Amino acid sequence: MHIYRGHIVYSKSWDELAVHRDSYIAVSGGIVEGIYDRLPEKYADAPMTDFGDDVLIPAFSDLHVHAPQFPQRGLGMDLLLSDWLNTYTFPQEARYRDMDYARAVYEAFVNSLIANGTYHACVFGTIHRPATAWLIERMEQEKLRAYVGKVNMDMQSPDYLCETAEASLRETEVFLDACAGNRFARPIITPRFAPTCSFELLRGLGKLGAKYGVGVQTHLVESRWEAAEAVRLYPECGCDTGIYEKAGLLENGPVVAAHFIFPSDEDVRILKRCGGFAVQCPDATVNIIAGIMATDALSRQGVRLALGSDIAGGHLSGIYGQAARAVQLSKLKWFYEPEGNRPITFANAFYMATKAGGALFGRVGSLEPGYAFDALVIRDFSDPFRSLSPEETVERFCYTGNPADIVAGFIAGEAVRGR
Ligand code: GUN
Ligand code: FE
Repeated sequence: MHIYRGHIVYSKSWDELAVHRDSYIAVSGGIVEGIYDRLPEKYADAPMTDFGDDVLIPAFSDLHVHAPQFPQRGLGMDLLLSDWLNTYTFPQEARYRDMDYARAVYEAFVNSLIANGTYHACVFGTIHRPATAWLIERMEQEKLRAYVGKVNMDMQSPDYLCETAEASLRETEVFLDACAGNRFARPIITPRFAPTCSFELLRGLGKLGAKYGVGVQTHLVESRWEAAEAVRLYPECGCDTGIYEKAGLLENGPVVAAHFIFPSDEDVRILKRCGGFAVQCPDATVNIIAGIMATDALSRQGVRLALGSDIAGGHLSGIYGQAARAVQLSKLKWFYEPEGNRPITFANAFYMATKAGGALFGRVGSLEPGYAFDALVIRDFSDPFRSLSPEETVERFCYTGNPADIVAGFIAGEAVRGR
């Protein structure tokens, strides 16, 4: 049992930010027991940490990030998706044949997640099973709740980064088998996107998903080119999401659809039916995709929304920055396409960054009773010119903050190393 005192801010719902000034949060066995404005008598003898005017918030969830692209941040950002993949990303990903390189990068990647307060993440590896297996074990050791996938790609890919369907399925099964017992970082099936996957491969992955009870992550309707290419390759499936449905990939576990910028009504219907997450990656969409998710409209249609950094389509790791960018992009979307779109609020974006995304991983992403105490302490952003309310500190942190502004972090109630 431990008590923490400070200002406490978390999302209750899409619209509602809960703010408890000068309050106490009781944590027992790594789980939040309650929040109180006066400390109840029963906790009088419990150890307490006082964070003064700093603000406790839930840790962030990044639902779309490519660990192998970490060394490539901020490069090639003047290209569009297909050229960016061929010029920068595929040669970068080919390097993970080399385990020494993989270990060094993945260690830095995990450190960057932790430094940015991202304690839950849905991660793409590469086609290389040994490197991806090392990454998932490293995340398991750190007790980072995660889904991690060995990427599958067996066509329309450069020779140096292309598998046969048979080898891809075999390696995926070895991967699923090896980490089936993980408690925190769990496997997820990861076909890169429709343009690089044969139907034989996708169908085989669907069978593996059913056998191991494992869900799927992929890129869905991320650009006009990709959405059209998916239907050109698989006209009988009707739409991009229909390909994965037909392959039996949407019924075995969580479904995570990165980008989801150009969905047809049928894409939306299928994603809703399987309870999948549509993941907005604001920086990536500006850098390499050139489309803006209809965040507000999708939310009103009942699609589950979350945020992703999409390193290295996105150039910044912190999900707090993506929350700010999601607000900015929703205003541009509404400005240029007022029909059916409205700007979202900061509370909406913070909800996507925390409670909505956290739901992929279990009871994380809020500080309500029953949630894991996966939390960050943000320094008070008041300055000599203006004192800020706790919710203003959280907003300013998302717009202007960096890892140095996170003064403490906890995963399941345990203090995070280096904090
Ligand atoms: N589509 C297929 N591969 C990728 C990738 O690595 N990043 C992004 N953003 N989109 C993709
Ligand atoms: Fe991506």
